[in-house]
Order: sequence, then C-alpha cells, then structure tokens
Amino acid sequence: MDTNLDPIMSLRSDHEIVRGVLNNLSGYLKKIGGDSSDNLRKNLINQLNEITAFIDKDLEIHFKKEEEALFPVLGNYIGLETGPIHVMLIEHKHSRELSEDFKTSIKDYQTSGNYKAVVSAGNSFASLLSEHIDKEDHILFNMADMHLTATEKESIMEKMRTIK
Ligand SMILES: [Fe+2]
Ligand SMILES: [Fe+2]
Repeated sequence: MDTNLDPIMSLRSDHEIVRGVLNNLSGYLKKIGGDSSDNLRKNLINQLNEITAFIDKDLEIHFKKEEEALFPVLGNYIGLETGPIHVMLIEHKHSRELSEDFKTSIKDYQTSGNYKAVVSAGNSFASLLSEHIDKEDHILFNMADMHLTATEKESIMEKMRTIK
C-alpha cells in the first residue's frame, strides 16, 4: 500500500515533514541564542512565524488525524484509558501547551527583548515533539500495523481525509 492508501504510512510521512521543521527550528534557535547582533536576532525571531504557523495548522491536523481517526480504532485492541494511546494523548496536550508558551515568548520578545525565553521555550517544545514522534514511529505505529485489518485501515484513511 502506498502513502495515499495506508493511514500508518501517511502518518509516518507527516512525521518526516515535522522532523524537517524541527530541524529548521533548532537551527534558528541556535543562531538566536548564539553570538548574534540584536538586528540579526530580531530578523531570526520574526522568521519563527513560519514555524508557528506550521504548528498551528499542519501539526494540529496531524494530531487530529491520530486522535479522531487512528486512536479510536486502535484503542479497540490496545485500550484508550491506559497504555500507549493514553500516553500519546497526554503528550499531544503537553505539546499544545508548550507551543502556546513558545508563541507567548515570541510575542513578549517584541517588548521585552527576552530572546533567551524564546530559545528555552522553543527547545522545550522541540524536544517533547521529537521524542513523541519517535515513540509513535517505533512503538505505536508498529502495534497498529500488527493489529489493524485492511478494512479498518481503509476506514481510518477515509476518516483522515475528512480532517482538514
Ligand atoms: Fe501523536
Ligand atoms: Fe504523530
């Protein structure tokens, strides 16, 4: 099955895109925290808006695909209230909180000039999210491939297509 037909392949390929964005983010954060001029720093922080737009739109759609399409069906096999899905849901919540903190730090920077807060909030968000997608790729999605039937995968994919 290809990415357009297999929901797990499609979610894995989202993760590749997320990894690319997180790589860019950590590059920006390194430069912002490093020995930059105020002017360069300001420019770099302004460019973070592209990344926060990705977080608000694309990452949110990805989370919803997992929460509304994959987890309810996979939950029939491995449970929702405890175990890996429960942990993933807690991490989605945590990621949403950390991205809010990150956006707040960017906004505050405009008046306070506190770039260290931007770097620290950005790094907290990036490390949580990067560990999260590693766990899904290496543990949760393998469980999904083990349990889900072809028919279930089809209906998950159909549901995922409605989430925009
Ligand atoms: Fe997730
Ligand atoms: Fe994911």
